[in-house]
Amino acid sequence: MMLKLEAVNKIFNKNTPDEHKALNNLCLNVSQGEFVTIIGGNGAGKSTMFNAISGSALCDNGIIELDGMDITYMPEYRRASFIGRIFQDPMRGTAPNLTVGENLIIAYMRSTGRNIMRMPSKQEKNLIRERLSALNLGLEDRINTKIGLLSGGQRQAVTLIMATLVKPKLLLLDEHTAALDPLSAKSVMDLTNRIISENNITTLMITHNITSALAYGSRTIMMDSGNIAVDIEGNERKGLSVQDILKKFSAVKNKVFADDNALL
Ligand SMILES: Nc1ncnc2c1ncn2[C@@H]1O[C@H](COP(=O)(O)OP(=O)(O)O)[C@@H](O)[C@H]1O
Ligand SMILES: [Mg+2]
Repeated sequence: MMLKLEAVNKIFNKNTPDEHKALNNLCLNVSQGEFVTIIGGNGAGKSTMFNAISGSALCDNGIIELDGMDITYMPEYRRASFIGRIFQDPMRGTAPNLTVGENLIIAYMRSTGRNIMRMPSKQEKNLIRERLSALNLGLEDRINTKIGLLSGGQRQAVTLIMATLVKPKLLLLDEHTAALDPLSAKSVMDLTNRIISENNITTLMITHNITSALAYGSRTIMMDSGNIAVDIEGNERKGLSVQDILKKFSAVKNKVFADDNALL
């Protein structure tokens, strides 16, 4: 298993009237190379699960293992060298006043576990140029442009390269196309799919779009109340329509799947 969550719990505002169980005995096993898409209503616990896996907010108890390592309480900066995470906001995770090239070099050094800044080698510069030109977005000609000047879609494309320059053990995508216009969203999604399959990267992708959740990846999980309600892959998943999966959810949870954004 590349990723293993065993009975992971996270309670917010414990022992107050606002107490809320965001992760409720969550268990999940993901094999090397699996591309899992994740859907679920607002507040289902999707981002909290990503926070626990990436270390940006630790869980209360349970075990999280990555490639055989217990990372449950490992500091975030140490996990960052083998876990890539991309957020909805294209501004997040990049330094807007640094150039595209500088952002990529910093990401490269972070994922190789080096935290001492130094001048990039010729080889490293070439690697970055190659990855950028493979996108076919002309970004290789904008290496010296401040990244804050790129469009949202272009920035998410660069962020994807940043997260995969050195192959991560795990890639976490948290609605990374939701803030983009439909055309850019489609282009970033296709790019994402290409990078993941070419490099066989183990990936979890949260999306509000149930159609893309079923179109991309090899397995789909529906979360509800801090747990997994539906988990489908293989033949069962092939040819499944949005209506079919919503029906499955209702059959298990005895309620209608509610997501304000799901129908957009
Ligand atoms: N820092 C926090 N403090 C208190 N409650 C939180 C915090 N983060 C998340 N929650 C609550 O935990 C639940 C799950 O949130 P989240 O994981 O962000 O859901 P999702 O990403 O599925 O929409 C929600 O009810 C949310 O209000
Ligand atoms: Mg969320």
